[in-house]
Parts: sequence; C-alpha cells; structure tokens
Amino acid sequence: MEDLQKLETAIIAEITACDDLSRLEDIRVAEVGKKGRVSLMMREIGKMSPEEKKNFGPKLNALKNKINNAIADHKTELEAQALNLRLLSEHIDITLPSPPENLGSIHPISQVMDEVAEIFTEIGFSIAEGPEIEEDFYNFTALNIPEEHPARQMHDTFYLPEDKDGKRKLLRTHTSPVQIRTMMSGPPPYRIIAPGRTYRCDSDATHTPMFHQVEALVIDKDIHMGHLKWCIEEFCRKFFELDNVKIRFRPSYFPFTEPSAEVDIGCAFKDGEILIGEGDDWLEIMGCGMVNARVLENVNLDPGEYQGFAFGMGLDRIAMLKWGIPDLREFFAADLRWLKHYGFAALDIPSLSTQNHKAGGK
Ligand code: DAH
Repeated sequence: MEDLQKLETAIIAEITACDDLSRLEDIRVAEVGKKGRVSLMMREIGKMSPEEKKNFGPKLNALKNKINNAIADHKTELEAQALNLRLLSEHIDITLPSPPENLGSIHPISQVMDEVAEIFTEIGFSIAEGPEIEEDFYNFTALNIPEEHPARQMHDTFYLPEDKDGKRKLLRTHTSPVQIRTMMSGPPPYRIIAPGRTYRCDSDATHTPMFHQVEALVIDKDIHMGHLKWCIEEFCRKFFELDNVKIRFRPSYFPFTEPSAEVDIGCAFKDGEILIGEGDDWLEIMGCGMVNARVLENVNLDPGEYQGFAFGMGLDRIAMLKWGIPDLREFFAADLRWLKHYGFAALDIPSLSTQNHKAGGK
C-alpha cells in the first residue's frame, strides 16, 4: 500500500489547481471512479489480513470521502466562477433605450389620433370617451333622430340581440353619442373632442365596417358659427402643415345640427395622387353645424341660454389625405409590409411638436 498521506496531499493539490470543470471530472474518474486508483485500492482490502483491514479500511474510506468532498467543493467554486464570467460577458445595460427597430411602428391611425389630440388640446379642448356598444337613445333618439327617421336607414347599423328588457344595443355608427353623454355628465360649458372607433355595415375601397371618427363639441353662452369656422381652419392648417389651406363650407343637413354644413378642403388630383393645398378640386372631410336646439332640450339645456357647435370628422379619411394612402381596407389588413411602409418610427417625435418647437415653442 502506498503512503496514503502523500497520496492524499497530491490528489488534493491536483484538485485545487484544476481550473476546468471537465478536467475536474477526469480527476474524479481517475481517482474515485469505478476503476479509479483509490477504488482499486479499496478492492484490495478484501485480500488483506484482518490486521491490515482494520488499519487501511477506515483510512481508505476517509481518503475517498475527502477526495469526493474536495471535488464537490471545487466543482461548486468553478461553476460559480463560470457563471460570473457568463454574467459579465452577457451584461445588459437596462438604462439604454431599446433599438428602434425592435419597437415596431406606429399605425397611421394612432399617429392621426395623437396629432388631432395635440392640436385640439393646445387650443383648450379636453378628450372625452364613450362606449362602442351604445344605446339607441344616445346614438339616435337624443340626437334628434327619432324612430322611423330616414337617417337611421342611412347609418347601416349593426344591432346586437335583444336584451332581457326587449331593447337592442348597437355598435355606435358615429362618435356623436359622446356629445349626449358629455352634456348629461355635468353642467356646461363643454369643450371636448371624442376620437374613437365607429361601425357601419359597409365595405369597399373607401369604406370599412369599422372606421374612426373624431367628434367635437363646444357649448357655452356666446358661441357662434365664427368660432366653428376658426377651429376648423386652425385644425386644417396645423394638421396638413399648410399656412394657406383652402376650406369651403357647403350647406348640408344633419338632424343634430341647425344650420349644418359639410367642409371641403381644396386639393388637386395629379397622376393618381391627391395634393392638398393646391388646385381647384374639393374633397369632403367633415360634417358640422350649430347644435340643434332640440338636442339641447333633450339633455335639459335651455337653448335660449346655451348654444354651440359640433363637428364629426373621419380620421381614416384625413390620414389617407395627409400621407397619400390609397386604399382604406389596407389599414386594417394587419399586413406588416404595409405597416413598415406607412407606419411611423416608434421613437420619432410627432412632426407637429417639432413644428411648434421650431415656430418658437408655442
Ligand atoms: N355624425 C355625423 C356622421 O357620422 C358627422 C357629423 C356631422 C358630426 C355634423 C357632427 C356634426 O357633430 O355636427 O355622419
């Protein structure tokens, strides 16, 4: 039998010096593995005299345990070192912004909503919301569109199945019901815009069953059509980024306004493209008017005391105009190539903010 103490010192030294996990495993196999040096020595015990057995048995056992423990400890140490190295090499600075290409892009409709909200909040409007599943009362009746009124047919309404009380809810056909909800929620004055989704059973290149509108409502004591005109002109100038945008008010009819008008914006059609701010053609962008006295009465306001204006504009339509997007259906086709082309970089500062900044930080 070799000198066990010497052997132990040598093996432990070898283990301690080892700086590689697979090398450490080799040492384990070579010493205490099935056919390892120490294991073979233990087999020899069987052939020994009882005296030798008594002497060597416990010593060999102790040696084997020491080696196993030393290997286990050193293995833990090497694993911790390896983990530290890996953590260092994979270090991530979480304070860095994400690369813009990982953030996707902003859908033109979201961009339009942001820009519209920015323009109107800057001139004193706040943002109101209403449900997309709406009651007949808010979508029609309170807006002076009673049952059997032909305007109801024009709206191609999606109705839900009957409630327990026999009433049918509907998908709002315009954002105008938010006017009613706003006026019923507290006393005037009101100065709100309400952007959101609207629904009509209609589908072609310029109509989708779901589309977007923004509603505006201003009610106070001395509001007149001049205020309406200024707001719309100011909006068009800012939104289309044109100082002398041409706007035309055409008499029209809506049950909830009196008088009513439709607003056209001056444009030119050149080589299949629409150019805003030039030419002699016109494109309709919204409906508007002075809020009908009957609507004010429906929400218990005195038309002798309060009056105001409202308008409703198609957000998809003005997005198509501003960025020259030809087909409305593509907006909602979830085609990533389309979104990459027409979308906006997630980290871009909205163009309107930079414009205001340049103009002297208004
Ligand atoms: N709600 C109308 C529509 O969807 C648009 C509209 C016209 C809204 C005139 C208004 C308005 O607020 O005054 O066709």
